[in-house]
Amino acid sequence: MPDAEGLALARLAGQVPTLPPGGGGDVIVEIGAYCGRSTLYLSYGILAALGDVPPGGRSPSAGQSPSAGQSPSAGQSPSAGQSPSAGRPVVLSVDHHHGSEEMQAGWEHHHGEFVDPGTGVMDTLPTWRHNIASAGVESLVIGVIGDSQTVATSVSCVAGLVFIDGGHGSQPAWADYRCWAPRVALGGWLAIHDVFPDPADGGRPPFEVYMQALHSGAFREEHELHCGSLRVLRRVSSGV
Ligand SMILES: C[S@@+](CC[C@H](N)C(=O)[O-])C[C@H]1O[C@@H](n2cnc3c(N)ncnc32)[C@H](O)[C@@H]1O
Repeated sequence: MPDAEGLALARLAGQVPTLPPGGGGDVIVEIGAYCGRSTLYLSYGILAALGDVPPGGRSPSAGQSPSAGQSPSAGQSPSAGQSPSAGRPVVLSVDHHHGSEEMQAGWEHHHGEFVDPGTGVMDTLPTWRHNIASAGVESLVIGVIGDSQTVATSVSCVAGLVFIDGGHGSQPAWADYRCWAPRVALGGWLAIHDVFPDPADGGRPPFEVYMQALHSGAFREEHELHCGSLRVLRRVSSGV
């Protein structure tokens, strides 16, 4: 996720506390965390909105490298001493941490350093956890480790923001939409990453899902919140 898109995501997360508690203002759902880059942007946005991080402070940059995690500018423990919620939204970060299809060995986005030598399977959880802890945002983030569809069957919540950036193939992208878009509170936001109207720029499923959400009538576009391939919709009625 490029910095500009991450900062746009942070600004969006910062709007969630304006929703009422119980009506979406206390939960952000992230589908697809990888090493925590977007998780940190979401956390940073919450902290910035609530005055815990100076606006324009350093942005997080948890990326490909296990050592690449940086903290939001509030330092190592912006939330030290506070209770897990303390009136702020929490980020439910859902990922099985075994990587998407295109991250497996032999594919374009494979990074061998994330293969667990004991199991031979990709495992980004230790890196994600390291980055969340290093940034001092553990009290804001709840890691939900599992398949996003399976998680959806056992976790019920109304979210102020659902950010979808999980599997980008047709099956996982549609499953994430069907499972998680209905969780967006009235007045809340659905953000989808890697939406490319031009097929030359990237895969189709996130764009198709985005168009379906728009055509459902339950969401309207928030043009001013768009950035790059990050597209944002706001729920205006029930029906999805
Ligand atoms: C594109 S990456 C997420 C990138 C992250 N949002 C960021 O900005 O750094 C996609 C992630 O989705 C996860 N994923 C793919 N399919 C999934 C599924 N069915 N359930 C849970 N996680 C899944 C992968 O493990 C991977 O970490």
